[in-house]
Amino acid sequence: MAPSTLLSFPKLPLLSSSASLPLPLTPTLCSFKTMQVCWRRSGQRLLDHYPALSPFKSIYPLSSDGYGIDHPRYVSTISIKGAGHVVRKGTGGRSSVSGIIATVFGATGFLGRYVVQQLAKMGSQVLVPFRGSEDSHRHLKLMGDLGQIVPMKYNPRDENSIKAVMAKANVVLNLIGREYETRNYSFEEVNHAMAEQLAVIAKEHGGIMRFIQVSCLGASSSSPSRMLRAKAAAEESVLRVFPEATIMKPGIMIGTEDRILNRWAQFAKKWSFLPLIGDGSTKIQPVYVVDVAAAIIASLKDDGSSMGKIYELGGPELFTVHQLAELMYDMIREWPRYVKIPFPIAKALASPREFLLKKVPFPLPNPDIFNLDQINALTVDTLVSENALTFSDLGIVPHKLKGYPVEYLICYRKGGPAYGSTVSERVTGSEF
Ligand SMILES: NC(=O)c1ccc[n+]([C@@H]2O[C@H](COP(=O)([O-])OP(=O)(O)OC[C@H]3O[C@@H](n4cnc5c(N)ncnc54)[C@H](OP(=O)(O)O)[C@@H]3O)[C@@H](O)[C@H]2O)c1
Repeated sequence: MAPSTLLSFPKLPLLSSSASLPLPLTPTLCSFKTMQVCWRRSGQRLLDHYPALSPFKSIYPLSSDGYGIDHPRYVSTISIKGAGHVVRKGTGGRSSVSGIIATVFGATGFLGRYVVQQLAKMGSQVLVPFRGSEDSHRHLKLMGDLGQIVPMKYNPRDENSIKAVMAKANVVLNLIGREYETRNYSFEEVNHAMAEQLAVIAKEHGGIMRFIQVSCLGASSSSPSRMLRAKAAAEESVLRVFPEATIMKPGIMIGTEDRILNRWAQFAKKWSFLPLIGDGSTKIQPVYVVDVAAAIIASLKDDGSSMGKIYELGGPELFTVHQLAELMYDMIREWPRYVKIPFPIAKALASPREFLLKKVPFPLPNPDIFNLDQINALTVDTLVSENALTFSDLGIVPHKLKGYPVEYLICYRKGGPAYGSTVSERVTGSEF
């Protein structure tokens, strides 16, 4: 399907296309354009010839890769390989048109909200497939202009409903994943089969120019974790079906709604200690969730160089589990107290749920800190591999965790947000 037929926007005349302008204006504008092009090109030659004049480049950008008459500023810099003549309009903000119409599977989750926010911020239309209640996506609607974020009910097991939510898209992002099994869904179905199915449907669609699959750092066929093995199988299947897909493998994601530091803080507040699985010496590379979303957007904005590639997105610092717990305790201003739980005991504590899951005729509570599969994953270090493509290959410098990325933890301080703050980070009462 031709990209232009995918777009639901009215095709507005772009200034760069003189053919679509009213007739009386066209000759005047053409001659003006020609003059501008000549003037800029002669200026470019002059600057190339005399390097001493290079400071003027910043005053009046003449470089061929910057914006100029050939690359007007009102046109989005997003270039999608094969996108052809998608409509792009505006200065690049929320009310412009980036040309991207993205179906974001898993948009209702933790990473989803940051991805949707960044897509909407640059003027993309975002289709949000959801399977739960109307509440699951309502926070996303505010991230775009009216009609920019479009929730669409779907059923992940119904192929036709998947086709319907993808029909108008030119970009598909798969953020679906789950770190525990339920009675209804196995690790393999959620983390592998669904990804493969989306890739197959996207390929058949014919107009999907970019497919981004979010996997996990440490996903490998030899991982001790079933979820990570399923994620590795998904990477392989997606690339086989859709070789131009881009795979993103983030480390443990940290942010306001994360499922690690929040859980630890809640547990520590409730029980006055934190169980440290293993001896806390497993090395991990946690990453700020906003950086992961930024990496996804950066890969969509590139010239197609990230297509068919795998990126390992770990934060800038390595932590042991113990060091990350210390960071949490530091933020919540509680005295660190740990109970070290050796792996065999942790597994024994987590096993009953896994054993009973499909044997009892009612749903069991979702696992929290004692998740058997995550305990298995923690038995090995999870770090970015040596020759992997990373944030730097996408032009992103990831944030260090200490500071703003973990500031949301101040809500767990027993004496209010300013409790126990050092002078430099003390906040006045009036701010809260
Ligand atoms: N969180 C991390 O620390 C982390 C680290 C590395 C990689 N990842 C990966 O990054 C991706 C996003 O993570 P996240 O933390 O945003 O996950 P999340 O908050 O658990 O959200 C997962 C999303 O997947 C959807 N989903 C789960 N099971 C589904 C099913 N059976 N059918 C249809 N949709 C289903 C959820 O939809 P509902 O809202 O309807 O349940 C939700 O939108 C996942 O692939 C995850 O494996 C996460």
